[in-house]
Amino acid sequence: MKKALITGITGQDGSYLAELLLEKGYQVWGLIRRSSSFHTGRIDHLYKDPHEHPSLRLVYGDLTDGSNLSSIIGEIKPDEVYNLGAQSHVRVSFDMPIFTVDTDGLGTLRLLEAIRSCDKPARFYQASSSEMYGKAVETPQTEETAFHPRSPYGCAKAYSFWQTVNYREAYGLFACNGILFNHESPRRGETFVTRKITRAATRIKLGLQEKLYLGNLDAKRDWGFAGDYVEVMWLMLQQDEPDDYVIATGRSHSVKEFVAEVFSYLDLNWADHVEIDPRYFRPSEVDLLQGDASKARRVLGWEPKVGFKDLARMMTDADMKIARRRKIIKEQEEPQQ
Ligand code: NAP
Ligand code: GDD
Repeated sequence: MKKALITGITGQDGSYLAELLLEKGYQVWGLIRRSSSFHTGRIDHLYKDPHEHPSLRLVYGDLTDGSNLSSIIGEIKPDEVYNLGAQSHVRVSFDMPIFTVDTDGLGTLRLLEAIRSCDKPARFYQASSSEMYGKAVETPQTEETAFHPRSPYGCAKAYSFWQTVNYREAYGLFACNGILFNHESPRRGETFVTRKITRAATRIKLGLQEKLYLGNLDAKRDWGFAGDYVEVMWLMLQQDEPDDYVIATGRSHSVKEFVAEVFSYLDLNWADHVEIDPRYFRPSEVDLLQGDASKARRVLGWEPKVGFKDLARMMTDADMKIARRRKIIKEQEEPQQ
């Protein structure tokens, strides 16, 4: 049985990747941070039933603690390591630059060092990001496009990208970068723009809130479905040679278009509900991301399955279920007079 270690298993991608690897028969180890209350909501369905998924194990750790990472890698001796752990919010990285760089930059190096010092080094996947292109020098962006990161997060990811390439070239590690463009799902964190919109729009529809406050509506992103994107992480580690790949849908839409899609699906006029709050602007913005995943299509045979409209609707439907449950609870708490 193959063993995989996932950092960031409690996050959006970690949960989908854990499901995929368990289905493929892996023993999956997940690195989780100690927190004062439970934060395993995205993987509880996998973990709470040890009879159904006896192959999922969790271990406490943190990307800021190198000695802990070394002992975990040394004990588990995984065949594959997927480094998905990160402070992944771009806006927050301006508020917490040191922590972001420690986790998202040095954290990768700590993990690579832990893997390198193992007798049988694991294959390594690094969650690189389209944020590295930042103020993009060309559109669409490919594996050859130069980076121009525009946030502490983007800078940290660019550092990790190059460390991953360097460990491949210097030590012969099987190390790959997936340069993933934005990918979303019903499990997306509530403060990323797509989920913020679907959550608020469904609550507005049911009368649970009135307004949605957003920042820059003109930014454009290449949005895909997280479920499609974790599959390609695994594919990269099954190849004969390690390499780096852009993963994207090839189509970009503005935040405004996403808002309009969701509100019109709910028969609402977005202009009646959306207001701009400058607090959500960023000190430096990434205006347009659009990826060209031709290499992944050609070499890995990978294609995204879910398009923009279906993604927006999938997320809206899922948030509508949550909003309906919230409304029932609210009505029980405040019975009508
Ligand atoms: P996410 O939902 O924010 O999950 C991040 C995960 O990292 C969580 O499990 C979090 O744990 C963990 N983490 C945070 N700080 C850590 C630390 N110091 N040590 C160990 N773990 C830590 O992110 P995601 O959307 O799944 O993204 C997964 C990875 O892909 C990230 O590296 C992200 O930067 C990258 N990426 C994402 C996208 C995208 O569009 N989603 C695109 C390109 C690249 P807690 O639950 O304890 O907070
Ligand atoms: N979060 C947020 N909240 N973003 C807003 C808002 C708002 O209220 N209003 C407008 N935006 C704009 C942001 O300024 C940005 O241009 C765009 O919406 C997308 O923001 P996010 O959803 O926060 O994602 P991101 O593109 O900054 O970063 C995500 O994608 C990267 C890949 O390109 C994250 O998942 C990163 O971890 C990932 O690497």
